[in-house]
Order: sequence, then structure tokens, then C-alpha cells
Amino acid sequence: MSSNNIHPIEDRLLARHLRESSNKHKGGVFWLCGLSGSGKSTLALLLEKYLFEKKIQNLVIDGDDVRTGLCQDLGFSIDDRKENVRRVSEMAKLMARNGFVVIVSLISPTREIREYAKKIIGEDDFFEIFVKSSFEKCKQRDVKGLYAKLDKGKISSFTGKDSAFEDPTTPWLLLDTENTPLESSMTKLSSAIINEVV
Ligand code: ADX
Repeated sequence: MSSNNIHPIEDRLLARHLRESSNKHKGGVFWLCGLSGSGKSTLALLLEKYLFEKKIQNLVIDGDDVRTGLCQDLGFSIDDRKENVRRVSEMAKLMARNGFVVIVSLISPTREIREYAKKIIGEDDFFEIFVKSSFEKCKQRDVKGLYAKLDKGKISSFTGKDSAFEDPTTPWLLLDTENTPLESSMTKLSSAIINEVV
């Protein structure tokens, strides 16, 4: 794609430090990855409320939400998932540079895809959080009824079944939502974020 005739104004926008000192906290992207049903969206919802009450500028970007709007043209092939992650990463980058604490909850299944997100967002602003729960446990919970559909052969390229999920090797934070209560994961997550941004 040609960049001719494109004149970005990014370098003339308010400097990041002005927003951050006005907000009294830093910006950053806290990226929750994990299987469908592992608890990413539930944690994102709890976190939004928690950060709002602490007067921390924040925004949740959730996979199921973006897939009904910004990314409604995308499916679940690896290329489409990568494009999904690219769009979300570009958006999250803009928000973080404007002082927001951005909570992303996307399956983002492969190491390559998450590396791509980190590259777009920038290493210093990207915090990878692995919401860890086994396929069997997610299937048992089946919050959205997708695993039941899967058993009836109604969904293809499903993450953990016929589409790969690669565990992060060195996440910034690991939350074991299979073996620990969600409240403990939430406490661990919220205090790690506060430590980082305040
Ligand atoms: S990602 O792989 O591109 O990061 P994303 O997080 O946006 O995925 O979307 C995942 C959500 O889409 C799941 O939580 C689930 O509700 C729904 N979904 C529908 N089909 C699939 C599928 N084949 N694999 C995984 N999730 C699916």
C-alpha cells in the first residue's frame, strides 16, 4: 500500500507525558490470552470496574466485541486471527500512547501472533498475561455453549481442538484459573497492574 498523500498528525498530538501526569498513572496494554472459556472476559470485566473506581483511565477490548464490529469481516483461520490481532494492537497502541490502561482479551492463540502484537504495540507497553485453563476445564464450564456445538460438529477451526493454542513461554503474568478461584487471579492481576502503572 502506498503511503503517498498521507500526512499523519501523530507527532503534533498532545505529548504522552502530559496525559500521564494529568492522569497520575502510566498507559500500557495488558494483553490477556487463553482458550475460550478460560476466564479472560470475566477478568476484563472485573478489572474495568476496579480501575474505574481507582480513577484509572481504561478501556477493555474484548474479542467477542470487536468481532461484532471492527473485525466482523474476519473468521477463525490463522490469517484472520492475525488480522484481528493486528487491528486490535494498532488501536491499543494509540490508546496506550494517549495514557490509557488498555485491557485486551483475545484468544491470540500462537506465539507468532502475540509477538506480532508486541511488535506493533512496543515492548515497553506490552504486558502478556496467560489466563491458563485446560481445554477439558473450559469445556466443562462451557459458558457460551460453544463446546457443546463443537461436539455436534457445528464449529470448525476451534481453538484447542482443530486449531492450535500455544502456551506463552515467559508471560509477564500467569493466572491459573483452573486451579485457583477467580477472585485470587483478580487480586493478583489488579495488584500487578497497579504496581506497573501507578
Ligand atoms: S482470536 O483467535 O482471533 O484471538 P477472538 O478472541 O477474537 O479470537 O475470538 C474468540 C471468540 O470467538 C471466542 O471467545 C468464541 O466466543 C468465539 N468463537 C467462535 N468461533 C470460534 C472458533 N472457531 N475458535 C475460537 N473461538 C471462536
